[in-house]
Amino acid sequence: MLKPLHLIVACAENRVIGRGGQLPWHIPGDTTHFHDETAGQIVVLGRVCFETWPRVALDGRRPIVITRNTALDGERVKIAATLVDALTAAESLPGKIMICGGERIYAETLALAETTGRAMILHPTLIHAEVPGDTFMPEWRHLAWRETARRESADDNFHYTFLTLER
Ligand SMILES: NC(=O)c1ccc[n+]([C@@H]2O[C@H](COP(=O)([O-])OP(=O)(O)OC[C@H]3O[C@@H](n4cnc5c(N)ncnc54)[C@H](OP(=O)(O)O)[C@@H]3O)[C@@H](O)[C@H]2O)c1
Repeated sequence: MLKPLHLIVACAENRVIGRGGQLPWHIPGDTTHFHDETAGQIVVLGRVCFETWPRVALDGRRPIVITRNTALDGERVKIAATLVDALTAAESLPGKIMICGGERIYAETLALAETTGRAMILHPTLIHAEVPGDTFMPEWRHLAWRETARRESADDNFHYTFLTLER
């Protein structure tokens, strides 16, 4: 049986997730959550996300970067040409498969869950604000999810909710 796919994302109310190749916010509580959830796991991510995450190969993470740039392949970082190739490689590694974006990778993962029925656990941090940006989380709410956890949090700038949704 294939491993379930975990998809982790921080998303504003207008579904913005990024701006100018960076996160459009600084939310230490969510950064800690993201690092804790991905530590020791397989992280599947796009090349831009990889380039902006210096700690990606620390804390026991096993990164698989989706890119055409074969020069990025190394001992600690594996590359794959497509999401399907990345998931095939991830299946033989220890740990959960955590899909970390960006936009196209989230979209292809959600489509895969929909078309193949593959089990999926979504870990969205819902940021309760409309935020300007250029990168978006594809719509996920039309799919049938079961909410299995919810925790509210806030700092001086944002209210946000850590959710866990399964299908
Ligand atoms: N809020 C969050 O939780 C969150 C999460 C993730 C990302 N972000 C934000 O989103 C932005 C980065 O995401 P992005 O969507 O712009 O870029 P990305 O997915 O990180 O990187 C895009 C690159 O990855 C490769 N790629 C991506 N999808 C592919 C696919 N399906 N098949 C083959 N190759 C693929 C290509 O690399 P090559 O050009 O090298 O071939 C493409 O140019 C940043 O602003 C980041 O901060 C936010």
